[in-house]
Amino acid sequence: MPDVVVVEVEELAGCPAPACAVRVIVGHVGDPALGGIAAGIGVPNNIETVRLCEPDSVAVRADRARVRAVSLTPQFPSPSSPTSSSDRPFDWVDDVAAQRRRAGLDREVRVREADDESLDLASNDYLGLSAHPVVRRAAADAALRWGAGSTGSRLVTGTTALHRELEVELADACGVEAALVFSSGYAANLAAVTALTGPDTLIVSDRHDHASLIDGCRLARSRTVVVDHGSPTAVDAALAAHGGPAMVLTESVFSVDGDSAPLCKLHAVCRAHGAGLLVDDAHGLGVLSPGGALPALDLGGAGDVVATATLSKALGSQGGVVLGPRRVIEHLTQTARTFIFDTGLAPACAAAALAALRLVRAEPDRCDRVRRVAERLHGRLTSAGLTVSTPGAAVIGIPASSPTAAAEWAQACRQRGVVVGCFRPPSVPDEASRLRLTARADLTDAALDRAVDTIVATARQRRRPQEVLPGGSCQRRSR
Ligand SMILES: Cc1ncc(COP(=O)(O)O)c(C=O)c1O
Repeated sequence: MPDVVVVEVEELAGCPAPACAVRVIVGHVGDPALGGIAAGIGVPNNIETVRLCEPDSVAVRADRARVRAVSLTPQFPSPSSPTSSSDRPFDWVDDVAAQRRRAGLDREVRVREADDESLDLASNDYLGLSAHPVVRRAAADAALRWGAGSTGSRLVTGTTALHRELEVELADACGVEAALVFSSGYAANLAAVTALTGPDTLIVSDRHDHASLIDGCRLARSRTVVVDHGSPTAVDAALAAHGGPAMVLTESVFSVDGDSAPLCKLHAVCRAHGAGLLVDDAHGLGVLSPGGALPALDLGGAGDVVATATLSKALGSQGGVVLGPRRVIEHLTQTARTFIFDTGLAPACAAAALAALRLVRAEPDRCDRVRRVAERLHGRLTSAGLTVSTPGAAVIGIPASSPTAAAEWAQACRQRGVVVGCFRPPSVPDEASRLRLTARADLTDAALDRAVDTIVATARQRRRPQEVLPGGSCQRRSR
């Protein structure tokens, strides 16, 4: 019996309501290549048929085969749309904008005032260090000493003594041999994934991996398999089916729901297959321990583990880092395109991250406090009857029934002075819109209680903002 994966719904001109057709891709049961399709990362050669049919026929097909994943994302027009004409090549963006608005997916760039007094449960400033006087002072001094920008690629003029010092201290804090600093966490992830894989490498990526890891997969010239979230068993199966060089990608603490990956089990599986493990520790660094997940789980010195992190969350600055064995870091220095062809991190950011790292290491109470705040937030929201994710560190996700419900809920909170994150496609899969709350070490209990009261009161005002849609679990990723 073939296994059917319904990958996406395409809008077709002239199609009866609901104005869409379903693309069905038929492959073999257990074929790990199907995961890659579901993530939109290329269509491998070994797919037998690609057919278009209307939604109802999926049910018919389901009689004969098992439907594994259904997604109802409308396909927006693209540059190839017939609405474009040669002298107005960008007309199609208006159609995209109109459809985006109808789907409740429009986003707004809001200007944050320096004296904004809203209660912030949306930023990633987990330890409140971005405004710490020592960190600000370090940034200001560095700008005065070194100038506003780093002036060039890290390999040309963009490396200052601050960059080197930061790399040495990050490596030490994380218990690894070496570190390489990038201009962002995004660039660090692109570097690690592309530089450490080749045409024969299988990349195994968790379904909830961050967009920067996904984009790394897209840029790498390797086959990618997307596996069930947090499942060492699924990783094991994918690696066993491949049998060659492989790298497994995961986050330590997932960015949207804030849950922890089973890192020790994943590492054991990787070891059994001789695969490398790449851990994005963006939400673990400075929160799980001063040095993040690797030292917390005793994985720091492992020769088969590489970590990445951003300096923009717990460390309150900007920039990214890849951490691991010295020879791996040297390889990235020589080959990673986002290291070679990108201007180095601004000296002020390097200095701020360094000052923040020193504070975190000298005063580890901040890590404990932020986790206690997250637990309290989780406990209070759960007792108020809301469905919320269990925080592995500082992040809590609150599912909403639709993108519009999430946006309206977040807006109602904002109007009452509480800023929460609102995640809708393409930041999350189609049916997984949600509020995202971040605990901060500097939140007082009174502020926390006010935030919870606001979130709960605004939930009650809305019509069932958490009503779960049929089949509402995350079956695929879309970003
Ligand atoms: C898990 C994860 N990885 C990487 C990044 C990218 O980091 P940066 O913002 O420094 O580019 C983020 C940022 O949101 C993230 O959440």
